[in-house]
Amino acid sequence: MKAPDPRLRRTRRTAALRALVREDRLSADDLIWPVFICDGSGVTQKVGSMPGVVRRSVDLVVEAAAEARDAGIRVMCLFPYTDPSLKTDLCEEAWNPDNLSNRAIRAIKAEVPEMAVMTDVALDPYNANGHDGIVRDGEIVNDESVEALVKMALAQAEAGADILGPSDMMDGRIGAMRDALESAGYIHTTIMSYAAKYASSFYGPFRDAVGASGALKGDKKTYQIDPMNGDEGLRCVERDLNEGADMVMVKPGMPYLDMCRRVKDAFGVPTYAYQVSGEYAMIQAAAANGWIDGERVMMESLTCFRRAGCDGVLTYFAPQAARLIKTGWE
Ligand code: PBG
Repeated sequence: MKAPDPRLRRTRRTAALRALVREDRLSADDLIWPVFICDGSGVTQKVGSMPGVVRRSVDLVVEAAAEARDAGIRVMCLFPYTDPSLKTDLCEEAWNPDNLSNRAIRAIKAEVPEMAVMTDVALDPYNANGHDGIVRDGEIVNDESVEALVKMALAQAEAGADILGPSDMMDGRIGAMRDALESAGYIHTTIMSYAAKYASSFYGPFRDAVGASGALKGDKKTYQIDPMNGDEGLRCVERDLNEGADMVMVKPGMPYLDMCRRVKDAFGVPTYAYQVSGEYAMIQAAAANGWIDGERVMMESLTCFRRAGCDGVLTYFAPQAARLIKTGWE
């Protein structure tokens, strides 16, 4: 009988050969850790739908930042849980220089300056209506929302944010923010646009974590992209790059790996995926039931973002993943 040719199993035979031919690797440098902040001091609150995730008061976020740095994590992304009494129709708390998020940015940059701090630019934590933009007569109004988002972005830049993360999906917000940042002298503040952000049902647990699910009326389909639309996702990325985004994101992650690859191939720019709350919750739930090996599934899911063309990934698993990367997991 003729020998199979090629014998592709040759290079899979031992761990050393597999490591030698491995095409992609995940490093702690690729991880962005999203964290939830709450008021008070010495406070942690569990997020029921995200086992293993807590909200932390600013002092404990600073502590967590130091630990994360020691584990090799270099970027954290902050999401505030805003007291319902501060939520209004015009979302003024969003650009309060002393709001929870801005206080946390200052505290981290003061105590752990080497940690890059990323923010969320969207009105939903501050909005009595739970939407990412301002609501008038049932409509999420675009241009007035952009004005508010620009004020919010400037306050975050002023507080010392390294990366602004506009997640609101209003049209024209990247250009407006970039112009305002340049005029105000914040020429080094980077923007990672949530460019291909889909109207997904995978965000449910996050909305619990930031306390937005109670306030939200309706859905976000008039501004976030239809999950069926790949070409439109690429148009959004192209538009945001033209308006001045430094980096772009695809969100959610796992069901949208095709978009990661398409974005990377089409533009060759720094590309990130957000492994969102629902993805995290699914893995944790199955692992808690003993149905999957949680750690291995976590690492597989994260390395697959690299294979799909991502330069990095926002993941609630960042601390666990960084630890496993250090100790070796294969
Ligand atoms: C809000 C925002 C959302 C997420 C990040 N920023 C939720 C939404 O758009 O409703 C989702 C993150 C996650 O699910 O982990 N602008």
